[in-house]
Amino acid sequence: MSSRLRAGLIGCGFYARNHLHAWRDLSDDVELVAVCDRDEQKAGAAAEAFSVPRWYGDAARMMEAEALDFVDIVTTMPSHKSLVLLAASHKVPVIVQKPFAPTWQDCLDMVDVCRNAGVPLMVHENFRFQSPLLEVRRVLEAGTIGDVTWGRINWRTGYDIYAGQPYLATEERFILLDIGVHVLDLARVLLGEVERVFCETQSVKPSIAGEDMATIMLKHHNGAVSVVDCSYATKRDPDPFPEVLLEIEGRRGSLLLSPGLELRVTSEGATTVRSLRTPLLPWTSEPWHVSQESVLNTQRHWVECLKAAREPETSGRDNLKTYALVEAAYESATSHQAARPNS
Ligand SMILES: NC(=O)c1ccc[n+]([C@@H]2O[C@H](COP(=O)([O-])OP(=O)(O)OC[C@H]3O[C@@H](n4cnc5c(N)ncnc54)[C@H](O)[C@@H]3O)[C@@H](O)[C@H]2O)c1
Repeated sequence: MSSRLRAGLIGCGFYARNHLHAWRDLSDDVELVAVCDRDEQKAGAAAEAFSVPRWYGDAARMMEAEALDFVDIVTTMPSHKSLVLLAASHKVPVIVQKPFAPTWQDCLDMVDVCRNAGVPLMVHENFRFQSPLLEVRRVLEAGTIGDVTWGRINWRTGYDIYAGQPYLATEERFILLDIGVHVLDLARVLLGEVERVFCETQSVKPSIAGEDMATIMLKHHNGAVSVVDCSYATKRDPDPFPEVLLEIEGRRGSLLLSPGLELRVTSEGATTVRSLRTPLLPWTSEPWHVSQESVLNTQRHWVECLKAAREPETSGRDNLKTYALVEAAYESATSHQAARPNS
């Protein structure tokens, strides 16, 4: 593999702009040689705005014509499986946006096909790469608060996400797949793998198809218990969108990430307080900058892993464990009983 990786991007919609900026920031290592969207106007506009040499209206044609070191799929989930399988058939490593797919079986199929083809596969699960959350992970890994015993992770907003992503209003499985995947992934990373899940969902906003609130209780294998909740129907002032807020308790102390991303860590009776505000990059803007910066961190991780032939943290295989929590949460919300995630 040459030192500069040749990349293609599929899906030039709302969120792809962040991917395109991040690839440009990573241009010492990555050369974006082609973009594709079945809406040719969007493909052409993205190529022009980001000085990408070629654009396509058909992903199969792009894969035939280009010699790529990897492909970045930024379409919505119904197309993920066919596009991942297309990349695998060309033996091209692939990074694909979350949610991985509409069904558990689709997720399994993508992981199996890529494993059998020897093709690296990563899900663009970016919340765990947000700078403030990377710092929380460092504090936990350093043992500052000791073994974790309890946690609460929440993401509650009334921000009009339907303006930029109108398709969300028609998703029958909505917030657990859209945001639940992120916060459940964080619960795994920060508190450990999960044994049991109990969940209740609510549909608060009229005129949307799916649930827009979910409250989930998790029992972790290490004995810790956590409450993970997400909402798109919270009227709050100030609205913390799109910050993840959390508190975690351990045997030696606790940590609290509060609105404005202030981190308060208590360890053996001593407390430190720091601001973890995400700095603005030339192409990021408030309030999305928290999310936008994590796109760059996520893509940097993918490139580092690809170059080192290392499995990414959020490989397809890893993301099955997060997706299994979403499935268990839906099962529990239907049965009103605790559910065990698939393993
Ligand atoms: N991680 C985050 O914070 C975050 C935030 C927003 C969106 N997302 C994810 O990003 C993905 C894209 O979301 P979006 O809001 O940009 O969607 P979008 O609908 O605005 O854009 C998707 C684009 O993909 C194109 N497309 C679809 N199928 C295609 C195919 N087979 N071949 C070529 N082009 C195709 C569409 O024409 C469209 O332009 C979703 O999975 C969403 O969940 C993630």
